[in-house]
Amino acid sequence: MNPGSYVFRVASEADLPGIYRLEQLCFGQEAYPPSYLALLMRLPGVFLVAVLGGRVVGYVSALLRRRRVGHIVSICVDSEHRGRGLARRLMELAEDRLVSMGAAVFRLEVRASNAPAIRLYASLGYRPLLFLPRYYPGGEPGLLMAKHPGNANRAEGRNSNVE
Ligand SMILES: CC(C)(COP(=O)(O)OP(=O)(O)OC[C@H]1O[C@@H](n2cnc3c(N)ncnc32)[C@H](O)[C@@H]1OP(=O)(O)O)[C@@H](O)C(=O)NCCC(=O)NCCS
Repeated sequence: MNPGSYVFRVASEADLPGIYRLEQLCFGQEAYPPSYLALLMRLPGVFLVAVLGGRVVGYVSALLRRRRVGHIVSICVDSEHRGRGLARRLMELAEDRLVSMGAAVFRLEVRASNAPAIRLYASLGYRPLLFLPRYYPGGEPGLLMAKHPGNANRAEGRNSNVE
């Protein structure tokens, strides 16, 4: 199945149970609670879901901080749907919306050990900016990565429309 089979759209509160299910699968004990996920939907920024057959199989959440910094808060794809370009598409769609809201730079934090996510971000043009010692619970270090819109490695011919 290719990413064209999935529906990408803005999340609503009705999606919360599906998003929280996914959040727990991806992050276990460190999953954000539903109340925080609901707050993320209301704050300035973008919260998108990828849906297949009515089921939420991916999401990305990003906030617009100080009117110009697009901060990617979280991204997660159901393990059964990974490797099909869903995260890449979610990131690109989120970035497009953040730019239209005024974002001049994108930032995110990622576990230094999370090779798939770091590779995803690097492939989209994010570069490591800062090493963050003991950033995560348990003392694991993180990386602050950043990207300027336009400094992107994007697939040709993508469709940036969100339903
Ligand atoms: C990281 C994650 C979101 C990637 O989702 P995905 O839909 O499988 O990613 P995509 O199919 O869009 O892959 C895009 C790129 O990411 C990188 N990538 C994705 N999975 C990878 C893996 N297992 N190993 C290495 N690189 C990987 C590749 O560069 C890939 O491009 P390519 O297919 O052209 O090589 C997913 O693995 C996930 O949900 N992980 C758990 C949650 C998480 O760690 N979130 C990030 C927290 S900061």
